[in-house]
Amino acid sequence: MLMRSAAQSLTEQLAERFAARIRDRLLAPGSRLPSVRQCASLHQLSPSTVVAAYDQLLAQGLIEARPQRGFFVRDWTPKPALPAADGSPSAIEAGVSRRPAGLEGLAAPIKATALIRGMFHPTGSKPQPGMGVFPPDWLATNFMTAAVRKVTSSAALQESSLKYGEPLGDSDLRRVLSELDPRAPKLVAFESVYSMDGDIAPIHDICDVAEEFGAMTYCDEVHGVGLYGPTGGGVTERDGASHRLTVIEGTLAKAFGVIGGYIAGTHAMCDFVRSFASGFIFSTALPPAVAAGARAAIQHLRASNVERTLLHERAATLRRRLDAVGVPHLQNDSHIVPVMVYDPVICKNISDLLLDEHGVYVQPINYPTVPRGTERLRITPSPVHSDADMDHLVASLEDVWARFSLRRAA
Ligand SMILES: Cc1ncc(COP(=O)(O)O)c(C=O)c1O
Repeated sequence: MLMRSAAQSLTEQLAERFAARIRDRLLAPGSRLPSVRQCASLHQLSPSTVVAAYDQLLAQGLIEARPQRGFFVRDWTPKPALPAADGSPSAIEAGVSRRPAGLEGLAAPIKATALIRGMFHPTGSKPQPGMGVFPPDWLATNFMTAAVRKVTSSAALQESSLKYGEPLGDSDLRRVLSELDPRAPKLVAFESVYSMDGDIAPIHDICDVAEEFGAMTYCDEVHGVGLYGPTGGGVTERDGASHRLTVIEGTLAKAFGVIGGYIAGTHAMCDFVRSFASGFIFSTALPPAVAAGARAAIQHLRASNVERTLLHERAATLRRRLDAVGVPHLQNDSHIVPVMVYDPVICKNISDLLLDEHGVYVQPINYPTVPRGTERLRITPSPVHSDADMDHLVASLEDVWARFSLRRAA
């Protein structure tokens, strides 16, 4: 049995054990490694430890992943080609187009591999906002297949969802994880910038608790990439936490202004999703023109902080102006300014009125996107909204607030 030691993690020990057997030809080229579950059970390890060890072997070029079949020893030669630090050899070898592949290193400044996705979120089962834990019975049957499928299932999230922003430590997250089988695979999924309230996840705290209980982590950075971090890598980059997440999801829409998105994670994880995620397999790859647009936008926002600085200044200015006229909004540290209406019908009506009479489109957010009674207009200023634009928006809001006799901030 492998034993925890200060010098070498269990992952490293397991990877080293396989690597030695492969180099000594005890495991011949073409032979199959035990499945993740078999190996985990044999060595009494968590499946995520085994996946991480297999990932190291993949990165060393000692093994290969064959879709639907498992991991096989490569025809190993004494000097295997090492993967480029910013590329994705496993994905490229397996057929991901080279042109979008140019994006892969860009979209994932820190993680080893990224997999570009199109718009494959099935609209009926988008993740609910907040944070969820996927318990063992969701995951045990087929390990990551289940995790990846269930991550888009709102039913799974509701099964064991947590109040967002609860202080951690003796929190719900710790409680929920501690109630699960310690050896079973688990996934903690959360947004870095919570799209509805605009508050920012305590990513290190979540990772601390997840690591303590051997859970994988999935961070949705859709509202963070391009907008946070010194090169726009998102809140995970800003907080120096990118290396701690199992999967980071980002979008090429929103900040980057194109369409599609990506996940970033280990080689094995991306290879796994590429091989098994039906939404990825059965959808068209990004057209080259779109990929080129995304590449240009990412390159620009990696080098330029001008737009990020302006965005946050614009959001702060908008908050100040709303405060000055008593229009209530949620306080947070992000660029998302939720203006609170607290009534679904009025919320929709004032959104219509703002468009029809003032030429301002602001999205009304009602149940089930937010809990009943917390209906809101969600405003996200952009770096190019001018002071005149803000004057117009605030005057328009003042008008509808007066006409509907809406609640004012104290
Ligand atoms: C929190 C969150 N995650 C994921 C997505 C999906 O991203 P995309 O539009 O790139 O498919 C969205 C889109 O609005 C989102 O708000």
